[in-house]
Order: sequence, then C-alpha cells, then structure tokens
Amino acid sequence: MDGNGRWATSRGLSRSDGHKAGTEAAKEFVTECLKLGVQHVTLYTFSRENWARPKEEISFLFDLLVRFMRREMDALIKQGIRLNIFGDLSELPFTTRQAIKTAVSLSSGGSKMTLNLALNYSGRDDIMRACKALCKKKLAPEAITEQALAAELYSAGQPDPDLVIRTSGELRLSNFLLWESAYSEFYFTETYWPDFDSAELHKALEDYASRGRRFGKTDAQLAEAESGKNS
Ligand code: IPE
Ligand code: MG
Repeated sequence: MDGNGRWATSRGLSRSDGHKAGTEAAKEFVTECLKLGVQHVTLYTFSRENWARPKEEISFLFDLLVRFMRREMDALIKQGIRLNIFGDLSELPFTTRQAIKTAVSLSSGGSKMTLNLALNYSGRDDIMRACKALCKKKLAPEAITEQALAAELYSAGQPDPDLVIRTSGELRLSNFLLWESAYSEFYFTETYWPDFDSAELHKALEDYASRGRRFGKTDAQLAEAESGKNS
C-alpha cells in the first residue's frame, strides 16, 4: 500500500491525511476482495524498515491502526473476516499490541476471508525465524524441506499469493513475502494507494486473468496435464 505520502503532498495535505485516506482505500479493497471471493489478502501495513521514519509519523500510524480496528471490528466479524498478523507484535506499542490481540481473537471464527496485516514485518527476518525454529527442533539436514521451512513462516497453512500488487510506481518487492511470492504474478501501477479503488482492483485482476502461469513448465506439458484432468 504505497504512495499515501505523495498522494497527500500532491493535494497540499499532510502525510497523516494521506495515511487516513489510505485506510479508507484498504477498507474498500478488502470489501471488494470479499465480494469477489478472494479468500486470502495480505496488506503490507508496516515494515521493519519503516521504523526509520520520524517518531511522530510512526505513532500516528499506530494510533490510526488502533482507531481503525476498534471502529471496523464489528463489521469485520459480521463479514466473516479472520484477522491475522504477519510480524513480531512484541515490538509494537502496548495499546497497539492489545488492540490487535483482541481483534485477532474476536475474529478467529471468520471463515470467508483471512486478512493478514504484515506489521513490523520483514520477509528476510521471517525466513531467518523459520531457520532458527528448524534448528531448535534439531532437524536432520535431509528433513529440512521446503514444506518444513514454510510451516514455520507467518504464512504457514495459507496458500502462496497468486497476485502481488504494488502501487505508486515503485518497482520493488521491499522485503514483502520473499519466500511466498516465488511464483506470484506481479502488478505494478502508478496509482497512489489512496486512489486504488475497486475499479483499480478490477483492472489489476483483469490483467492477472490474462496471464499464462506455467510454473516452470512448457505450454505442451500444461495442455497435457489439463487434458488428463478433464478425461
Ligand atoms: C505507504 O505510503 C504507507 C506506509 C508505508 C505505512 P507512504 O507513506 O510510503 O507514502 P510515500 O511513499 O511517502 O508516498
Ligand atoms: Mg512509500
């Protein structure tokens, strides 16, 4: 969700106004995904690298998150959304941590969609955490499989993302879902996140739908697998 600051500056508003508008865009995004039947959504909300921002901006972001969660929690639960966090909560301010824990536990029965917030998240750090967990289990080298490692990531039990969207014209992954996005499709748009509305989402999904995903195979192999499935 990139471009809140530039969106605001281009309108003569403060960066805080941009972040506020960004939360509204996130709400519309999640609602539309739910309507379309998307079962897993991960929003890159705050990276470990974002701690380098001015203190005031960081505390504004966490306050905004707490206020937003308190306000939207009931609606989230009613819609069957299960909230989940990718990232180390222990480093977040106390009130933020508490509000998140409450929201995660209250929404745990949601079965329509899992909404992951990547918060204090770093893809590299997540892979390192997983390695440490495997070491602690004293796994033999042969037992260290992709499945074993994936089971230790924050995303354990969830499918890899089909589509990764980055807004605001930046062409980077910035430490997002490094392991999980190995075969994801990417969609980059110049649109700033607060302007990324349902129409923009549909554009991204149409683009995605036009792609051929081969997962390293040839077209002939895929056609054969497809005809086998249908016979
Ligand atoms: C994304 O918008 C929001 C967060 C990272 C929390 P930015 O704040 O990165 O907006 P720009 O990149 O300065 O425009
Ligand atoms: Mg940015």
